[in-house]
Amino acid sequence: MIITCPHCSKEHSIDETRIPPNVKRVRCKFCKQLFLFGEGQEEKARENQIRKLAVSLSKGGVGKTTTAVNLAAGLALAGYKVLLIDTDTQGQSSFMLGVRPSAGLTELVTEELAPEECLFQARQNLWLLAGGKSLAGVKRVIDRKDFGGEMTLAEKISPIDNQFDFVIVDTSPGWDPLIVNVLFYVTEILIPVSLEVMTLQGLVEFLKSISSIQKYQPALGLKYILPTFLDKRVKNTTGILLKLEELYGEHVCKPIRYNVRLTEAPAHGQTIYEFAPGSNGASDYRDLVRKVSGNSKLFTE
Ligand SMILES: Nc1ncnc2c1ncn2[C@@H]1O[C@H](COP(=O)(O)OP(=O)(O)O)[C@@H](O)[C@H]1O
Ligand SMILES: [Mg+2]
Repeated sequence: MIITCPHCSKEHSIDETRIPPNVKRVRCKFCKQLFLFGEGQEEKARENQIRKLAVSLSKGGVGKTTTAVNLAAGLALAGYKVLLIDTDTQGQSSFMLGVRPSAGLTELVTEELAPEECLFQARQNLWLLAGGKSLAGVKRVIDRKDFGGEMTLAEKISPIDNQFDFVIVDTSPGWDPLIVNVLFYVTEILIPVSLEVMTLQGLVEFLKSISSIQKYQPALGLKYILPTFLDKRVKNTTGILLKLEELYGEHVCKPIRYNVRLTEAPAHGQTIYEFAPGSNGASDYRDLVRKVSGNSKLFTE
């Protein structure tokens, strides 16, 4: 029997006959965390087929939206069915993709429209649940609940997410009930970290907030730390990168270099693969798509 660790997603091949019937928890030999085994695991395994990943950090301007959009678009190009959810009131994911959906996450949560009317197909294989100013309505729905408000998003999205291979959620800066909701829905977190000392401090604080959620949502795991804005000409960045690798080891992905093409693409409503396919930005995000999908052969032919 194959079981998957909900914390690090590593698979374990185990011989059920050698596990005593009263054993309910097992320890993952890779990440050393305990998780429930046995009943419910099968359901978890099915759920695990949909990868649900939040791109998040409390600090703004670190490359969250750029990463969410280009990761989602890259996975879609690779043939995966992807849902991109924008939970930021600025609604920049739509802008970056050059689309103007008339509905999105708000109408799904408030049930003003049927789910299929809230989903907007932005590219082949890529659907969007748009964010924007109307998300204030979502926050009101969450606030109105006396109990279980943190599960609002999960309850509304789960019925529609099973048709996708990946759900990528872009989050706003700061820390509020909507972000808590996102973290009760996803099982993986990708943290973009711009290579500055200030961001490292923000990272430590953010990881503390995440561990307060993990107590109630043990399936949530920090999966990837993505260094962004790498510029070898700027003093100190190499030092910060080494420090990240020392602290977070295999979670640290290959960095995204500073690339002016990434700043220009949104004004054209294009992903980096459309706007500048030969740029460093496109090449770095293709690497990230390979890492996240676990398929190292993508885009190589
Ligand atoms: N690797 C990069 N190189 C250059 N500019 C970038 C890079 N990543 C993001 N940007 C630009 O930096 C700004 C902030 O990025 P954004 O993705 O909006 O961050 P966040 O969502 O964390 O606030 C945007 O103007 C974006 O185009
Ligand atoms: Mg953003």
